Amino acid sequence: MIEVKNLSKQFKAPTEEKGLFGPKKKPFWAVKDLNFQIKKGSVASILGPNGCGKTTTLRMIAAMLTPSRGTAFVDSVDVRKDKQVVKSKIGYMTNNTSLYDRLSVIETIKFFAELNQISADIYMPRAEKLIEQLDMKKYLNKRVADLSTGMKQKTSIVRTLIHDPDLIVLDEPTTGVDVTGQSVIIDLIKSIKDSGKTLIFSTHQLNEVRDIADHIIVMKAGEKIFDGDNSQFQELDSNKNFTEIFMELVSE
Ligand SMILES: Nc1ncnc2c1ncn2[C@@H]1O[C@H](COP(=O)(O)OP(=O)(O)OP(=O)(O)O)[C@@H](O)[C@H]1O
Ligand SMILES: [Mg+2]
Repeated sequence: MIEVKNLSKQFKAPTEEKGLFGPKKKPFWAVKDLNFQIKKGSVASILGPNGCGKTTTLRMIAAMLTPSRGTAFVDSVDVRKDKQVVKSKIGYMTNNTSLYDRLSVIETIKFFAELNQISADIYMPRAEKLIEQLDMKKYLNKRVADLSTGMKQKTSIVRTLIHDPDLIVLDEPTTGVDVTGQSVIIDLIKSIKDSGKTLIFSTHQLNEVRDIADHIIVMKAGEKIFDGDNSQFQELDSNKNFTEIFMELVSE
């Protein structure tokens, strides 16, 4: 379970005003007083326009970024207090999850499995299954530097899941992936869901949300503007479709 309590992050943004060392900076809240709970075993989707604070929120949940105010609990572990414990429970993937250009795909998987101290008899069958599920067999020996965006994305997903985390945080898992790849990733999310794990993902693809999310959170300008399930979302306006409801919600 994930519990987010008054989670907030302040950053500094450049202003028009010039100072001695470039533009003067002004603090702003990228995420402001966010509260929500994600039940164990559910798939939650976090939505909202560019810059509304999704990535910042996910980074704080994954203990990659310290909140300015408030906190989040991952299976009751406070992300402010036990960063390492949270990191060991979570598999976190962002669009720029680092991979090493010089390694091949298979070497990458092996490297991160060993980094997580997983023995070969455990990670090999796990990797084989993921490679099969994500249809990656054809490019296992290609170097990361030579991969396409979608291939890199899938490699990052395997890297994220190789230690079999109970809680999975995916920041835009299908961005930059072709239609077939998107459906393969969605099927993988479904199978993760069926195995009883908790998953939170951000996306701009509303059809994915409609198909797989048990729980929908919509953000706008750092704040939560909707929190509920699919049917509650549809109930916002029964005459409109999913996309229309979303557009109205974020434009208000
Ligand atoms: N390290 C940082 N320093 C300063 N500002 C930042 C930093 N990281 C994010 N921001 C700002 O915080 C706001 C929220 O950014 P964030 O990346 O969380 O948005 P997002 O919802 O993930 O957007 P997108 O849909 O484009 O991925 C933006 O205004 C962004 O410019
Ligand atoms: Mg983002």
